[in-house]
Amino acid sequence: MQAFEVQEQDFTASAKSYNHNDWQGGYKSLKQEFDYWIDDIQGQIPTELNGTLFRNGPGLLDINGQPVHHPFDGDGMISRITFSNGRAHFCNRFVRTAEYLQEQKAGKILYRGVFGTQKPGGWLANAFDFKLKNIANTNVIYWGGKLLALWEAAEPYRLDPHTLETLGKEYFNGVLSEGEAFGAHPRFDPSSRFDNGEPCLVNFSIKPGLSTTITIFELDTTGKVVRKHAHSVPGFAFIHDFAITPNYCIFFQNPVAFNPIPFVLGMRGAGECIKFQPDRPTQIIIIPRRFPLKSPLGRGGQRRAEILETHSGFVFHHVNAFEQSKEIIVDSICYESLPEVEPGSDFRQVDFEALKPGQLWRFHLNLHTKIVQRKLLESRCCEFPSVHPQKVGRPYRYLYIGAAHAPRGNAPLQAFLKIDLESGERQFWSAAPRGFAGEPVFVPRPNSESEDDGWVLALVYDAACDRSDVVILDARNFHQGPIARLHLKHHIPYGLHGNFTSEVFLA
Ligand code: CO
Repeated sequence: MQAFEVQEQDFTASAKSYNHNDWQGGYKSLKQEFDYWIDDIQGQIPTELNGTLFRNGPGLLDINGQPVHHPFDGDGMISRITFSNGRAHFCNRFVRTAEYLQEQKAGKILYRGVFGTQKPGGWLANAFDFKLKNIANTNVIYWGGKLLALWEAAEPYRLDPHTLETLGKEYFNGVLSEGEAFGAHPRFDPSSRFDNGEPCLVNFSIKPGLSTTITIFELDTTGKVVRKHAHSVPGFAFIHDFAITPNYCIFFQNPVAFNPIPFVLGMRGAGECIKFQPDRPTQIIIIPRRFPLKSPLGRGGQRRAEILETHSGFVFHHVNAFEQSKEIIVDSICYESLPEVEPGSDFRQVDFEALKPGQLWRFHLNLHTKIVQRKLLESRCCEFPSVHPQKVGRPYRYLYIGAAHAPRGNAPLQAFLKIDLESGERQFWSAAPRGFAGEPVFVPRPNSESEDDGWVLALVYDAACDRSDVVILDARNFHQGPIARLHLKHHIPYGLHGNFTSEVFLA
């Protein structure tokens, strides 16, 4: 038995597609703010590709040399890549949150982070300090004429899309109150049945406790909140993302428990007090987008949230969802468990092989029988999905996702995978051994008709040159590799989420 384990370790080590030091290179702070036309380009930028890609993620992994405990605690930095007539411009700016400005002035950590960053001075300096730093680092959207940096535990920060100057917190005309959360994973309904077929932004917020309040927000194209409703569900919930259909919002409530005592006593961050409960099921919460809802699935006027159950597991991100006859279908990236962040550990030393990969599953939710069925769609380690923006909440055929280079096991994302859900065909392009992949974003070609006619845009950290590239893949000929690689003058720390708008923003 022991011999077998050793053998397996040897196999894994020899088959590794990456070098750990290379991967670590993408987790250095980027302190400088840049503004330049990109002139070091391999291949050609399509002249039809016009618009702006905004990305968000932790720009600082330390405050004046004091490391943050987890990248999720790093200050939000917006990167903007503007495509205009075959050229591309780069600009990055930190979101100047009140706390970012205070810490930069003080030259030291002044706030505890949710994921374990502590103020210097040990637990005594941190006990009973519940002030959270709004780090605005998770997503960035352009909606209703506003550019918003999102972080799921507080209000958004608004920035000027031309200069990336921070304008202040956004309250949507008083709809949000001071400190009220607005999630980091909005979904864009391309054609809302409640708004005469106009597009609509759907978002949520979570207020966890002994029971959890889920609030749904829907914004029209002018950025006005047109629907807001709150629902209480039993138990503590840690929910990062959700999915929508024309009629429903779908949440996966992962089986976790929260013990706040180490947080209260200054020994751990709040996020480090969440413990995965492998013996409990995942609860799937289905909330109608409007009340009372008369939909083909709603049995003539559903008035409350439905809760269904499925296997234990952990989901950060959903790909998409849609309604089909009596079912809601949801495609999600699932983990067998939630890796715990340990105090005293260093995230740069993470042992990828010791963790379970995220894998793509399809869930069939039957609202009549309350039965959930699931099947594995893709076993390769994958994360950060993207679909055609017109297919959000609708039956769809193609998805694009960051993936590991190797077909088995857990590893950093180094590749991109396109999956044809109809034929099962895969197309794959890998930047291994020295490239590391971020979230891909699908951008349709103007006036395109077929679902995969467009480009996939992504950032790839190239350890060989210690810089990041913007890669442009032709979504129809994905496996042929980038049609253009735009070499930036510097690296961009591994980021989280972003979005593309067809508006061209330059200073
Ligand atoms: Co996310």
